[in-house]
Amino acid sequence: MRKLIAGNWKMNGTQEDLPDLDTLAKAHGDASVDVVICGPATLLGRMTTTGLTIGGQDCHPSTSGAHTGDISAPMIVDAGATYVITGHSERRTDHHEDDALVMAKTAAGWHAGLHVILCIGESEAQYRNGETLNVLRAQMDRSIPDGATPETTTIAYEPIWAIGTGLTPTPDEIAAVHAALRAYLEARFGAAGTAMRLLYGGSVKASNAGGIFLLPNVDGALVGGASLKAADFSPIITAL
Ligand code: G3H
Repeated sequence: MRKLIAGNWKMNGTQEDLPDLDTLAKAHGDASVDVVICGPATLLGRMTTTGLTIGGQDCHPSTSGAHTGDISAPMIVDAGATYVITGHSERRTDHHEDDALVMAKTAAGWHAGLHVILCIGESEAQYRNGETLNVLRAQMDRSIPDGATPETTTIAYEPIWAIGTGLTPTPDEIAAVHAALRAYLEARFGAAGTAMRLLYGGSVKASNAGGIFLLPNVDGALVGGASLKAADFSPIITAL
């Protein structure tokens, strides 16, 4: 699998931001890595006209029905997107999503033909108590459906305490966690687990991306704030 840089715009972005996205597309249309922008639902269709690969930020486990405000995986496909994020810690916190729901959403994404970026991560308290690996293994046990492959699934490790804070784990800590995640994926999925992409996310920016991308078992990044402007995101893509 090619390495992957995914930008997550979260609840940001209006049509005014599309020219800047065009700039990004022109600069990285021939990138040797996969570049994906996960935009707000209101912009997905427009974003696909840039030629960039586009993803949703969440999907409902059902295909359609009486679920006011929700977006289904087939609707994301209909908008022209090919990726979706599931299990982001902001969804888990803001909308009380548990691992079982994340698993159902991931399966729904697969069923619709979307590539799923499934997020896991520990809280600051869990990090300080040395519980990181146990928390991550439990999240993967309960939220990754059986049958995951590199073609359908990417795992994003995002320490919650590193998201939007400017804090990151040390390089040794990231490498140790990613080694443990790889071991888990290989034990559970065999060769598919070896090839499945593992992203790091949490305060990735131009100044730290190069160092993070040198670490073993880091196959790219899930980038929040620094993905909103082409000038900030471009150097991160180039660093991979
Ligand atoms: O999905 C992206 C992550 O939550 C990271 O966000 O780069 O703003 O820390 P951040």
